[in-house]
Amino acid sequence: IADVKGGPNEGLDRVGQTVVVMGWVRTLRLQSSVTFMEVNDGSCLSNMQCVLNPEAEGYDQVDSGSIVTGASVCVQGTIVESQGSKQKVELKVNKIVLVGQSDPSYPMQKKRATREFLRTKAHLRPRTNTFSAVARVRNALAYATHKFFQENGFVWVSSPIITASDCEGAGEQFCVTTLVCSSFSNMPSLTIILFQDFFGKPAFLTVSGQLNAETYATALSDVYTFGPTFRAENSNTSRHLAEFWMIEPELAFADLNDDMACATAYLQYVVCPLFQIFIGGMKIPSCKYDFKFMLDLQDVAEKEFVQLTYTDAVELLLKTNKKFEFPVAWGCDLQSEHERYITEEAFGGCPVIIRDYPKEIKAFYMRQNDDGKTVAAMDLLVPRIGELVGGSQREERLGYLEYRLEELKLNKESYWWYLDLRRYGSVPHAGFGVGFERLVQFATGLENIRDTIPFPRSPGSAEF
Ligand code: 4AD
Ligand code: MG
Repeated sequence: IADVKGGPNEGLDRVGQTVVVMGWVRTLRLQSSVTFMEVNDGSCLSNMQCVLNPEAEGYDQVDSGSIVTGASVCVQGTIVESQGSKQKVELKVNKIVLVGQSDPSYPMQKKRATREFLRTKAHLRPRTNTFSAVARVRNALAYATHKFFQENGFVWVSSPIITASDCEGAGEQFCVTTLVCSSFSNMPSLTIILFQDFFGKPAFLTVSGQLNAETYATALSDVYTFGPTFRAENSNTSRHLAEFWMIEPELAFADLNDDMACATAYLQYVVCPLFQIFIGGMKIPSCKYDFKFMLDLQDVAEKEFVQLTYTDAVELLLKTNKKFEFPVAWGCDLQSEHERYITEEAFGGCPVIIRDYPKEIKAFYMRQNDDGKTVAAMDLLVPRIGELVGGSQREERLGYLEYRLEELKLNKESYWWYLDLRRYGSVPHAGFGVGFERLVQFATGLENIRDTIPFPRSPGSAEF
C-alpha cells in the first residue's frame, strides 16, 4: 500500500495498474450492490479501500459473512481514481481470497481502545494505527542511528548481555541463575530444583555496554554499541523500563566538549526533517503518513542547544518561584520535575546540556575535574522527557581511578581488565548513552515509554 499510495500524488500515477494487496481487514461496509472493505498491510498508516461488486471472484465469502474485521485477505484488482474524499485512489477488486478467518471475539474492533487496554493485547496492538506507526518510526530511528555513526567512521561493537561488572555501580542489576533439576530413579515423583550462579560465578544482565565499548575505543578509536540493557530499578514511571535499548558511542582521544558536540550532532541528525526524505528515498517500509505521529522536531534540529553547569542549573532552580516536590540544594540529584522545568520553562523548549555534576551523585568512571568536587559528566535534557542522554569523559588516569574505586568500596579486583586499559596506552576518551525508547517517546509524543517498545518489560509485565 505504501508503494502505491506513498508517492507525491498518492497513487494517481498508478491508475489502471493491476496490483495485489495482502493484509488484514480493518472495516467492512456492505451496501446493496457494492461492498467497501478497508485493508491494511502494515506498510503505512493508509488503508487500501477495496470496492467489491458481486461479480468479483470469491465475492460469495463476503456475502456469506466469512470475511470480517481482523481476517487476512489477498485481493487482486485495478487501481482506479476514488470518488470518495478520503483517498485519491482505491482498488476495484477482480478477485478476493480469504487467507485466514477471524473469530468474532477479535479484540481490535473498538475504534478508540485505551493505551492501557492495548498494553494487555501486546500481541495484537501492532495492528492498530498508532502501534504500527510507532514500529516504523522506531525502525527508522534505528536505521538513522546506524547511518549517522557509520557515516562518521564509528565501528559498531556488540557488547555482552551477561556480565560480571556493574557499570553504573548502582546495584540495579538482574541476577543470572542457572536452573539445575535433579530427579531420582528410586523416587520418580521427586524432583529437586536448584538455582545456581552462572556456572559457579556471579553474573548479571548488563546495565550498560559502556565498559566493554571502552575496550574497543582504546583499540579501534571511535566505536558505538546499540543493544538491550537492563535495570532492576522498581520505578513505575512513564520514563522507565526494566529492559531498554541503549546507543552508546565511545570516542577516543576526546574530551567532554567533543562528547557534547557528538551528542548534539547525533540528535539533530536523527530528528532532522531531512530524515523524512531519506526514509522515503530508502524504501524503508514506511511513508510520509507516519510523520503525522511525529511531533514537529524542527526546533530540535535547528536550535542551538543550551549548555550550563550543574552549579548554574541549581542556582536557576533555587531562584524560581516554582514549587517542586523535591527540594533543591547543591549536591542533590536532579529529579525529572527539575529537568523538565529547565528545558521546558527556563529555556522555552530548547534541549539543554547540563555538565560538571558533583562526583558523589555520578558513577565511578567519570573523570574528576580540577576543582576536586565535580566530574566531567553531562546530561542532555529535552522537553516532555527530561534526561534523554547521559555521558561523560572517562577517568583515564590509573591512580585517580583506583582511588575512586576504593573510595566507593567497589571490588577493585573485578575491574582488573578495565584498569588495564589505563595501564597500557591510556588515552583521554568520552562517551554517552542514549535511551532509545526515550528517543522514540520524544519523537512520537507518546506519554508512556511502555508504548515505544513492542513488548515492554516493567514491574509486573513480562507476559508476552
Ligand atoms: O544515564 P545512564 O544510566 O548512563 C549510562 O548507562 C552510561 N553508562 C552511558 C554511557 O556513558 N555510555 O543511562 C543512559 C540513558 C539515560 O539518559 C536514559 O535515556 C536511558 O539511558 N535510561 C533508561 N531508559 C529507559 N528505562 C530506564 N530504566 C533507563 N535508565 C536509563
Ligand atoms: Mg543518567
